[in-house]
Amino acid sequence: MTAKPFALQELPTDLMQERMPRHVAVIMDGNGRWAKRRGLPRIMGHRRGVDVLKSLLRCCRDWGIEALTAYAFSTENWGRPTEEVEFLMTLFERVLRQELQEMMQEDVQIRFVGNLVMLPRSLQAEIERAVTETQKNHGIRFTVATNYGGRQEILQACRAIATQVQAGQLEPEEIDQAVFERHLYTAGICDPDLLIRTSGEMRISNFLLWQMAYAEIYVTNTLWPDFNGEEFHRALINYQQRDRRFGKVNAP
Ligand code: FPP
Repeated sequence: MTAKPFALQELPTDLMQERMPRHVAVIMDGNGRWAKRRGLPRIMGHRRGVDVLKSLLRCCRDWGIEALTAYAFSTENWGRPTEEVEFLMTLFERVLRQELQEMMQEDVQIRFVGNLVMLPRSLQAEIERAVTETQKNHGIRFTVATNYGGRQEILQACRAIATQVQAGQLEPEEIDQAVFERHLYTAGICDPDLLIRTSGEMRISNFLLWQMAYAEIYVTNTLWPDFNGEEFHRALINYQQRDRRFGKVNAP
């Protein structure tokens, strides 16, 4: 059951290169429901979800998008059945090991955001290897949010900044948005322009809370394992029709 849902390579002619998002973020929801509808175990949905993510990454790179961030595992996901959590951890590790060579060939720079020290040691080692080996690649910046929570990220930034203030290295008046952003896991990555969430849920679920301030949100009822190039194309057409004012008004 190999998914080949992204047939397109060239940027479709109805998309404007100059209005493409620089950074796309995805909440890959609906894997479990996809599997259940087919009478399969939930893990089959996650497995298929990896194929979709790989295809989306390639598509983003081909269409000139600079960054893709995927929400793979939230701080709340530890509450799932142990077998599912263990399956996901093993899946992440295996995918990283198997795909490293291809990421090098395709010039992908991978990075992880989240509280990584709580992940299994062997997964941490695989993450470190993939991040180090791909750090000089420039084709696309691929960020995987793993054991990630937006509130937790903001709190750890506050703690780090407070520590600097306490040590006399920083004045409270010097704390501005740029200082704050340097303490987020995503330091150095531009904010997402477009958030895509599959499976119809209208929420951001603790994902990139700070960074999502001006993101355009696109929600589709399609379940993640069925997400494909056509659907991504539709999301981008929709995005390009939006009037992004960032709180300002357009000149008359
Ligand atoms: C949400 O669907 C999906 C997840 C919590 C896991 C997503 C992970 C992947 C697709 C693997 C990515 C792999 C790498 C290496 C980045 P759900 O299980 O909540 O679906 P449901 O809402 O239908 O139950």
